[in-house]
Amino acid sequence: MAFPKFFDFIKSIRERDRPVAQEKESTKRTDEQKGLWDLDAIFEKKDEEDVKCVNVLIVGAGSRGSCYTFYAMQFPKRMKVVGVADPRSCAREKIRDLHNIDEDKLFEDWTVAVEREKFADAVIIATPDRAHKDPAIAFARRGYHILLEKPMAVTPEDCCEIVSTCKENSVMLAVGHVMRYHPVSQKIKELMDSGAIGDIVHIQHMEPVGHWHFAHSFVRGNWRNEKESTFSLLAKSCHDIDLICYWMGKKRCVKVSSFGSLSHFTKENKPKDAGSRCLDCSVEETCPYSAKKIYLEKAEMGMFCWPTSVVCNDGIYDIESLTKALKTGPYGRCVYECDNDVVSNQVVNMEFEGGLTAAFTMMAFTHALGARVTTVYGSKGEIRCKGSTIEVCDFVAKTTYTVPAMHRVMIPMQLMAHGGADYYLISSFISAVAKDDPSLIQTGPDETLRSHLLVFEAERSRRESCVVQFDDDDKE
Ligand SMILES: NC(=O)c1ccc[n+]([C@@H]2O[C@H](COP(=O)([O-])OP(=O)(O)OC[C@H]3O[C@@H](n4cnc5c(N)ncnc54)[C@H](O)[C@@H]3O)[C@@H](O)[C@H]2O)c1
Repeated sequence: MAFPKFFDFIKSIRERDRPVAQEKESTKRTDEQKGLWDLDAIFEKKDEEDVKCVNVLIVGAGSRGSCYTFYAMQFPKRMKVVGVADPRSCAREKIRDLHNIDEDKLFEDWTVAVEREKFADAVIIATPDRAHKDPAIAFARRGYHILLEKPMAVTPEDCCEIVSTCKENSVMLAVGHVMRYHPVSQKIKELMDSGAIGDIVHIQHMEPVGHWHFAHSFVRGNWRNEKESTFSLLAKSCHDIDLICYWMGKKRCVKVSSFGSLSHFTKENKPKDAGSRCLDCSVEETCPYSAKKIYLEKAEMGMFCWPTSVVCNDGIYDIESLTKALKTGPYGRCVYECDNDVVSNQVVNMEFEGGLTAAFTMMAFTHALGARVTTVYGSKGEIRCKGSTIEVCDFVAKTTYTVPAMHRVMIPMQLMAHGGADYYLISSFISAVAKDDPSLIQTGPDETLRSHLLVFEAERSRRESCVVQFDDDDKE
């Protein structure tokens, strides 16, 4: 495996630099403040930490399902992948080969896997959005602990049913709201709770989706059409509404309103002379959404990683199959001629108990991709955060200082998505199952259900042009 070699290299650098690190001790800053990785913890102790190796079944071995399995490669004493269910043979075979799975534990559909006598401790469900509810309910009834990708399901009723079934069957449920686990989110929460900026008054939070990312996923791709997946706020930003609720802590949201629309990616905006496919379009060079630019030019430089990996759906990564996919498949279509209907820009305003407020913006037309911009306003200061930089402005001391929120562990490359938050989610879930301790899961059933219900109500406000009074007690 390539990873251990890479990690050995990093370790040797750490050893080489140790005297420098010790010198820095004199400044009395902690390892965390210095931003040093706790390599000892991750390489030497972590693998011994949990008593039990958790056996996991993967349901849906696409981008997300396969990504979580790298945890088992990194920590084979903690997690073992023992089965996979996916209708695509290339997806099943990739997981089989990586994890030496027995042929009788490869399934074309999860319904066959769930009929077998229970053969794993947990299941990771990473099927498309509309295919979450049925497997979640079925595996919960079979006694499997569940890591369920977000969104939990596409209707409030289905989300409630998943939660109640997990509770009735005493199985743990973790939902893929990875952003909660990110050190930056944790640090913001810690600062807010510590009183560093006095009483909290307002949170302003913005998710820059990224212009080409929006075109890839929400115009041409899997999340473009509500009937096939779900509405944008749920598919893309349930993370962010969840984060705002997490930061607000015990204060519950009481009112919500929202506006949003699908801008630009419509037939009326198609440039004169544009073709139906980017590979035969005469104005492609002037289009920021050109499939040639997003996929082909990167592949020509040898880059077949996401999002190009999604386009080569048959698992063959070469220029020939990519060109064929762009000539015939969904990702080569003109962005002004797709069957997309999900909104590209949406705002959500929320009032919390005690008069606290929050404003969220989801925006497709950004240069940045994923690096959220957050400002928390308090009676004695401000917390400002852009990507991974946190600044605190103290109105009393009249100072502004930077607060580090570094990773304290070395995160395997394949779990670096969402700034490394994927690693913390899977690690917490595996520890929770191994130790039979649901408190290790930060994205458990109750809080996740509450933030999902808020997302559904925000969308109702957008559609019905009304302010919605939010009372989640009767639904939980
Ligand atoms: N947590 C996050 O930040 C995050 C990020 C991206 C996607 N997601 C969510 O994760 C889920 C999966 O997304 P993805 O990007 O991996 O999609 P994907 O299309 O790459 O993977 C989905 C997989 O499910 C398989 N599948 C379909 N029907 C199935 C069935 N009946 N039984 C078993 N497998 C089946 C497909 O063949 C495919 O391999 C979606 O719900 C998505 O919204 C979450």
